Amino acid sequence: MAPDSTLTLTRPDDWHLHLRDGAMLAHVVPLTARTFSRAIVMPNLDTPVTTTYSALAYRERILAALPHGTPFEPLMTLYLTDETTPDEVRRAKDSGQVHGVKYYPAGATTNSAFGVSNLKRCWPVLETMQAIGLPLLVHGEVTDPAVDLFDREKVFIDEQLIPLRAAFPALRVVFEHITTESAVQYVRDGARRDLLLAATITAHHLLYNRNALFQGGIRPHYYCRPILKRERHRRALLEAATSGNPRFFLGTDSAPHTRHAKESACGCAGCFTALNAMELYAEAFDSVGAIGRLEGFASFFGADFYGLPRNREKITLIRCNWTVPQELDLGGDTLVPLRAGETMAWKYID
Ligand code: NCD
Ligand code: ZN
Repeated sequence: MAPDSTLTLTRPDDWHLHLRDGAMLAHVVPLTARTFSRAIVMPNLDTPVTTTYSALAYRERILAALPHGTPFEPLMTLYLTDETTPDEVRRAKDSGQVHGVKYYPAGATTNSAFGVSNLKRCWPVLETMQAIGLPLLVHGEVTDPAVDLFDREKVFIDEQLIPLRAAFPALRVVFEHITTESAVQYVRDGARRDLLLAATITAHHLLYNRNALFQGGIRPHYYCRPILKRERHRRALLEAATSGNPRFFLGTDSAPHTRHAKESACGCAGCFTALNAMELYAEAFDSVGAIGRLEGFASFFGADFYGLPRNREKITLIRCNWTVPQELDLGGDTLVPLRAGETMAWKYID
């Protein structure tokens, strides 16, 4: 095989992942653990993970779902609510297992009904997080129905993120799954002043623009929040991800929902990418001749931001066509991966 057909890189981590619970958890954990060493696990379960106690219990359920002998470290998060206390975030930090607190504006996305109604209510908690160095992970969309769905990230920056960072200049913030050139610009400029702000970028936002949602008909498996944007935004994201700027790193936002829940008159938001995540990212980086920049984005910058050691082992991807399965069996229902039935150009080798 030609040398440029093989890509060896340090084992990556996923800095934004949904694993769910119960039967779904059991099916998706092995897929992520096959490729990634660690993952920041989102707390938006049906009953959100709001306490250190429930985060540690959830962590045990994740570990129990791992195939025997698979080394994988779930990095837990708390779900911020109007009721979260400074004591709780201190307890979280002291546990050594909780690495961030997730801020969902109430109603922004899947299972966000318990999210924060007004961030001002969380001021004492944010002060504590700033003091103890626990990052705030932000779902950056306003929920005001008067704001166009496609503008909600930009409005969030202006109305919430800028005031938040002015009030807590030393708070570590991850702007999750950014989707617009405004977000890219904000994170890039912020990074000039300090090293406290970073952003995750999904594979699907690097590969697709909003046309994918309507290619020949409505395509529910491309529907996620924040929603796919115009091509100009995808280009800006791709440029940021491949720029080598350590403020941008990998977070798949792989968000499994059953086929039944996606293919519905009111389908759930979320793209399931855990099955072929690194292959999707490799394709995106390759598309602009930047495959050499993938390792920093996937394996180094996130660990550096979270103050965790970089992984040591290596993984291999080869350039090789394969077909993504149409669905995965969940026993009763099925799970449709992104690119189901289509061809991938890169393959992760166990
Ligand atoms: C996520 C989910 O399904 O939990 N959905 C999504 O579209 N990304 C929630 C989220 O990250 O917003
Ligand atoms: Zn998410």
